Amino acid sequence: MVAFFLPLAGLGALVYLVTPISAQVPTVSLLIDSSTRLSAAEALNLNLRSVLSQVSSRKGATFHFGSTYSTPSSAEAAWTSNIFSTFFSAVVAENDCKWYATEPTRGTFTLSACEAVSSLAGAHGATFRGHNTFWHQQLPSWLPGTVTATDLVQNVIPTHVAGVIKGLGTNVSSWDVMNELITDSATTAMNSYQCVQNADRWPTVTADGGSTALETNLQFVYAAFKTALTNAPTTATLVYNDYSTGGSDAKDNCVFKLLADINANASIPYNRLGVGYQSHVGAQAGYFVPKAQLEATFAQLNSLGAKALITEMDMWIQANDTVDQRYQAAIWGDYLDACLYASNCFEFTNWDNRDDTSWITPGNGHGVAMATLFDSNGNPKTVTYELIARLQRYASGVSEMCATALGSSSCTVPST
Ligand code: XIL
Repeated sequence: MVAFFLPLAGLGALVYLVTPISAQVPTVSLLIDSSTRLSAAEALNLNLRSVLSQVSSRKGATFHFGSTYSTPSSAEAAWTSNIFSTFFSAVVAENDCKWYATEPTRGTFTLSACEAVSSLAGAHGATFRGHNTFWHQQLPSWLPGTVTATDLVQNVIPTHVAGVIKGLGTNVSSWDVMNELITDSATTAMNSYQCVQNADRWPTVTADGGSTALETNLQFVYAAFKTALTNAPTTATLVYNDYSTGGSDAKDNCVFKLLADINANASIPYNRLGVGYQSHVGAQAGYFVPKAQLEATFAQLNSLGAKALITEMDMWIQANDTVDQRYQAAIWGDYLDACLYASNCFEFTNWDNRDDTSWITPGNGHGVAMATLFDSNGNPKTVTYELIARLQRYASGVSEMCATALGSSSCTVPST
């Protein structure tokens, strides 16, 4: 429920109003409306990989269409093996490559769980992307600890970034070198350090939410990217990854400032850099980035020579009904099209592959959740069919279509 206070003149009191959570959902036109829908079995067994290789041909480089992997329960193992052999062409570890998992004790690396995800990719003919070498969350118990600002920049970060990146070798499309540094209260007046410092997260303060300063400049960011540049294969994109980005607002502005800073002060060429747009979004106006804005952002990156990646896409819906499921398909389709038709976007990663294993759960402002591409029985959904159709359409060589999330009065999908 959403609550707000409305002052009423003359009454001298505040009247408490409650509105239902469901906001207006537009009627949308989808690509799948004009074709015969595949059966669930057909969709699951569809060799999307062959479509993805046609997509790669048109793009001129491998297009990675992926999802997360965590060791599945035995009931799901066969299903998981199947979708990473036929449906997705790329794998990212949901948690297994994070700092707590890879360096639980200072200087002692345990890469086996992270390597298992990379091996799964290899065994299924998929590619692997690395997530992540630096984040203020999911840290080992020895961090933040009492590590000093200098020790962090000179030893802790270089050791960790090099240890993980070297350990995972050359079969990697990209590494999220740094994750979620920028404040949600950004203003356009902030410089890149202020963009980070105002998040009040370790390590600009000694602990998240704390008020004791630790790093007072961005040397820790440069240390991570310099180490990544030295140790990653030359084909891997070095990524700054964040959420609530892509919409050309003050936070997005901070991303560009930070990228310019990394380029200038860590000497990372733009053609090695990428920005990861996590894209944990909702099928409600204001909770996702419209396609035109995403495209403008990707183009801005392209003009620098840097890449754009969709890294963690999921999308809650307000209600479990047809109109909401279609809206989800329209928005997700727009995100996919924004990446497909951009000349600098080669990775589109969906986060969690089944509704029953998603980290997005019902409530907490996430409606009924249902935020992934496969339902709780592992069956494809309206959004899944729509994404298949978008990939097939791109592979066939035709030009980009309108933004379906705008609603059918603004965008009617051409019938094929
Ligand atoms: C999430 C995982 O999905 C959860 O299983 C875990 O409990 C917390 O982290 N941004 C990120 C991801 O970069 O690593 C997060 O993944 C989701 C938000």
